[in-house]
Parts: sequence; C-alpha cells; structure tokens
Amino acid sequence: MRKTKIAPSLLAADFGNLRRDVEMVNNSDADWHHIDVMDGVFVPNISYGMPVIKAIQKHATKPLDVHLMIVDPDRYINTFAELGASILTVHYEACTHLHRTIQAIKAKGMKAGVSLNPHSNINLLEDIINDIDLVLLMSVNPGFGGQSFIDNTYVKIKALKELINIKKATALIEIDGGVTSENAKKLTEAGADVLVAGSFVFKSENPAQTILDLKRAADGNYEQKVVNNR
Ligand code: DX5
Ligand code: ZN
Repeated sequence: MRKTKIAPSLLAADFGNLRRDVEMVNNSDADWHHIDVMDGVFVPNISYGMPVIKAIQKHATKPLDVHLMIVDPDRYINTFAELGASILTVHYEACTHLHRTIQAIKAKGMKAGVSLNPHSNINLLEDIINDIDLVLLMSVNPGFGGQSFIDNTYVKIKALKELINIKKATALIEIDGGVTSENAKKLTEAGADVLVAGSFVFKSENPAQTILDLKRAADGNYEQKVVNNR
C-alpha cells in the first residue's frame, strides 16, 4: 500500500490567522508543515524569517519541512536546527560545496534534502543521492505560490526514481509547485513520495477536507486518520 505524504505549504496561509492555519494542519490528515524561506536574492521574492518560523514552530505538532530558497544556506544551518526543523532542504543551484552542506545539516540532527529547479537535470544528483534523505523537485520556478505545474516534471520524477533504484538509495521524492488533486495520482504513479500544496489547500473553502481529498487522490486506498476538525 502506497503512503504518500502531504505537506501543506504555509506560504499560502492567512498570515493574520497563522496559528489557526497551523492548527488546521495539525488536526488534518497532513504529514508535514512545509515552510518556504525566500531571501529575495536566490528567488525574486521574500517570504518570512526567523520570528515567524518560531511562531509556527510553537504551535506545530508535525515535522517542519523547511525549504530554503536562499543563497549560501550554510550560514543558517544552526539557526534552523534551533528552530526545530526536521528536514532542511537546500537548492543544488545555491550550494558551491553541496556535500559539505549536507554533512553539516545531518550533523545537526536534521534530515537533509536537495532541491532542483525545473531546468536542472537529475544527473546532477548522481554523486550525492546516497548521502541525502530527500530530493525536492520544483515543478514551478521557485519564488511564488499559485503558479501552474510544469509538465516536464513527470519525466524527471521517473528519471530520479530510476537513479534512486540503481544506486540503492533511500531518498524520498518530494514535488513542490502547482500540485492539485487533479495531478496527485499521476505524480505518485511516476514515483513521488511527498506532495507539497499551497494554494490548492489554503485557498479552498475547506482546507482540511482538501488535504484529505489530496491524500485520497494520491493513494486511492487511503483510510482517514483524523476525524475531528471537519
Ligand atoms: C514555491 C514554493 C512552494 C509554493 C507552492 O517557490 O517552494 O512551496 O508554496 O505553492 P503552490 O502549491 O501554490 O504552487
Ligand atoms: Zn517549497
């Protein structure tokens, strides 16, 4: 039985009601809280910083899946460990010494992820795949929520799955950008293990129900864990 994880992206939450939205995720069938950190340099947008993440952490009861869209992420590895990140993902395109960065993340007790932009080929991961816990494939250009899904992602998921199998690696495949219950099944069939969804969840009328819909779309046989909050 397939067990796809759902990671709602708080980038699309209502920041005036952040606690409410974090608690909605706590009480839903979601698996992780996805936290997007943007610096206005690596991507043309700034999201939120440490004080906001601290507030999220205070209320969150599920693992914090932190996606760093920043240059030179090594500067903040300690800070994110202190903020309680369970998974820390850096961009391949933002790291000169990626192997060292991965080791530093793991040394702080976090799981290490590497993200690829839509233009970056899977082959780039050949010499690092056995060292990492997760690969985050961007299925939109990073920087903004609410963009449309790039179809070439399916081919990349299959190529990545193949690489993972050939190398006998254990990295999870996470897909980020433009995920909906329309493409969820095709993504998991291609090999995705974790689906990030921002606008599709938070802009919907009943976000907790939408998370459940996503789970069911991804895994036809999913049995609901949680019955409260809806
Ligand atoms: C984009 C972020 C995503 C974003 C996804 O740069 O990494 O996590 O929040 O948003 P949607 O699901 O709206 O495409
Ligand atoms: Zn993200």
